[in-house]
Amino acid sequence: MSNYPMGQLPALGWNSWNTFTWDINEELIKGVADMMVEKGYLDAGYEYVVIDDCWSLKERDEQGRLVPDPQKFPNGMKAVGDYIHSKGLKFGMYSCAGTHTCAGHPGSFEHEFQDAKQFAQWGVDYLKYDYCFKPRHVIGELLYKRMSLALKNCGRDILFSACNWGEDNVYQWIRESGAHSYRSTGDIQDNWDSIKNIALSQIEKEPYTGSFCHNDMDMLVVGMHGGSNSDFIGSIGGCTDTQYKTHFALWCMMGSPLMIGCDIRNATETTRQLLQNKDLLAINQDPESRGAYRIKVEPQWFPADSAFVLAKALANGDIALGFFNFCDSNRELSLQFWDIGLPYSSGVQLSLYDCMEHKELGTFKERFAPTVPAHDCVVVRAKLVNLP
Ligand code: GLA
Repeated sequence: MSNYPMGQLPALGWNSWNTFTWDINEELIKGVADMMVEKGYLDAGYEYVVIDDCWSLKERDEQGRLVPDPQKFPNGMKAVGDYIHSKGLKFGMYSCAGTHTCAGHPGSFEHEFQDAKQFAQWGVDYLKYDYCFKPRHVIGELLYKRMSLALKNCGRDILFSACNWGEDNVYQWIRESGAHSYRSTGDIQDNWDSIKNIALSQIEKEPYTGSFCHNDMDMLVVGMHGGSNSDFIGSIGGCTDTQYKTHFALWCMMGSPLMIGCDIRNATETTRQLLQNKDLLAINQDPESRGAYRIKVEPQWFPADSAFVLAKALANGDIALGFFNFCDSNRELSLQFWDIGLPYSSGVQLSLYDCMEHKELGTFKERFAPTVPAHDCVVVRAKLVNLP
């Protein structure tokens, strides 16, 4: 459980959408909550269990309240929240800034204060807030500002996870709205192209992420292996474990919230170990939440988008370095230390720790040049040490 104030670090948890979309119910959510604890996800830092779209009926009641679907949640949402809390986890829910959610259930447009109070009564700790069916004459920015105020005044701490897919120059106004994170891209799909495209679209956006307002690159597809009931998300049939590893490392380096999207009840041991990689999670959860910047690798003839290094300054003075190879064959990716501000004349060298293999690699002067297999990555934590 995070000891930091709400929203300081990227949120960690599980979300129902990527695998289950509309097919959700109380038993599923309880089963996932059980697994979060039993399989070590909570201990690794994943604390939110988030119910995405399709939890409510298609109409509000006579008092204008949202109504949980009695087929799916026969005991109501408070009972679900109580169960999640009894496991030491936090409870996340979903609504939308427009008149309807993306799947056509009632949205919170012009019900913001009423819904925020309702969520507080149910014990909600996290609200994902989508952007479908926004009336065109209304400025979206004001809808996020309104819901943010509603949540901050509802009598309960509720983390506000904005989700407008990077539209309307969101990065220019979202921090001031009070949201704790904001989706900056369209929806992820369980395939390698989608992962690459999202990551590349966020390079050079590192000024627009940081503590209390993190750039959310969308929920993880790690470990799904094509197992979504949505044709859109699962359309091309999943990724290899190597591609999932690169996906997870990118999201960790780039400081995205990490919302697990696979069915953790059936996840493989490889998936579980990747999602619980404590060295990668420590980079994602670094207390200063600085953005990762891209360095072009040598030799210069690689197209910048096919192979690159990301560097992220960490609170204790270390630097996280991620070597990413999007090419279809092995590449030696050479980082010259002057490109992170450390020429030989600075008098320091780097002691490198491999965050995937969990072992020290030794001390390097001037450059580090791992050979990275196709679609793979190397992530190291670099400590500055004086040259002898
Ligand atoms: C949008 C969001 C998704 C998901 C669906 C639910 O597409 O971007 O993450 O919440 O709506 O309908």
